[in-house]
Amino acid sequence: MKREAWGSRFGFMLAAIGSAVGLANIVRFPHMVGQNGGAVFIVLYLICLVVVGFPILITEILIGRTTHRNPQGAFQELGNTKKWKYAGLFTIITGFVVSAFYCALSGWILGYVVEVLRGSINNLANISEATQLFSSLTQSPIWSVSYHFLFMILCVLVLYSGVKKGLERASKLMMPLMFIVLLLLVIFGLTMDGAGQALEYLLAPNWSAITPAVCLMALGHAFFTLSLGQGTMVTYGSYLSQKDSIVSTCFPVALADTLVSLLSAVAVFTIVFSVDMTPDAGIGLLFKTLPVVFSKISFGFWIAIAFFLLVALAALTSEISALEPSIAYLVDEWGWSRKKATLFTAGGAFALGIPCALYTNVLEFFDFICTAIMIPMGGLFAVLLIGWRWGMPKAILELSFGAKRNLLHRYAVEKYIYVCIKYIAPFVIILIAANAFLG
Ligand code: PHE
Repeated sequence: MKREAWGSRFGFMLAAIGSAVGLANIVRFPHMVGQNGGAVFIVLYLICLVVVGFPILITEILIGRTTHRNPQGAFQELGNTKKWKYAGLFTIITGFVVSAFYCALSGWILGYVVEVLRGSINNLANISEATQLFSSLTQSPIWSVSYHFLFMILCVLVLYSGVKKGLERASKLMMPLMFIVLLLLVIFGLTMDGAGQALEYLLAPNWSAITPAVCLMALGHAFFTLSLGQGTMVTYGSYLSQKDSIVSTCFPVALADTLVSLLSAVAVFTIVFSVDMTPDAGIGLLFKTLPVVFSKISFGFWIAIAFFLLVALAALTSEISALEPSIAYLVDEWGWSRKKATLFTAGGAFALGIPCALYTNVLEFFDFICTAIMIPMGGLFAVLLIGWRWGMPKAILELSFGAKRNLLHRYAVEKYIYVCIKYIAPFVIILIAANAFLG
């Protein structure tokens, strides 16, 4: 059977951006910046992006494009031993676990879109009212599990149609819409009272905020936001043709992703500050602080709809990308049809996500295990595979296929990629992890 492929390089790019841009950009990033030293955290994150995130993005797409296989098959082919095969399988499992808790969280978001429409979150006087509402909704198994289920159904509808007609077409449709909504929110935020103050707070550098744990957070975010370390980008790369340049396709992906994070931080901070509140932690920000803010500002109803819609769209294109490695694995390795593999994967992720949909702390636990441990490990496996097992000379040659001559052949670009993949990325991951966990 002929393997599926993207219709165009642009389609791939949008799908990769769709995967990268998600809850981490819109919800987690603004909070992290606010809590961990403002501009200092942004700089730390950008460093992680340049020396670790972007090189690993290139590495993962390269692994996929070279082998045209799912992560397990790809790692096995390039690593040529059983150990590497299991490393590939490990990344697939990570993606699967991510898809479980991500879907539960996205289900709540979908539920909140409906709650806004029903008018139940337009009149919240304070955080405790918002908290009460959130608890009563999420503790109702019918509410949380139904929306979790509904969100998974939406994903299945996209995934069922395959790579070109499903993933690519959905991203082409949803990504531009998402950008428009985000821009409208930024413009709205900047016209609010105290927008200048919000930006000042957001960007004030607080050097004392740098600790090993904060560095790990910046690194973890760079991984998570680019959908690395969990088979997603390897799988997306496996549908890419050798005619398409990896480096010049990955660059706009990392750029767009970073831009969305920064714009989201501006939107969230300006809007939240306008009513003299501060952005709370991830889940709290989304389901407690923001609903109160929306209840207080003018046009709050419309802004709330726009915001939750934005988040739901971003989450959908990410969730499908988290499920795709498992589907590709079942199709490639077990010879299943795409439809059967989609139903099986979605059913499994739905089941695993049920405890997350019911208990916030289970969701946060899954999130922590994935973001702080499994994902960085998956990224480390990818750079070790290419840098130390398969070999950089082969990798550089492979990168030159489809590359615009003038780009990769620039000595500096080639050296940057070489040094980051082989030395800096593995070193930084190990150093930060050791520091955070041991020291
Ligand atoms: N990149 C997504 C985000 O920023 C998270 C994600 C990772 C989704 C991996 C799918 C796969 O929210």
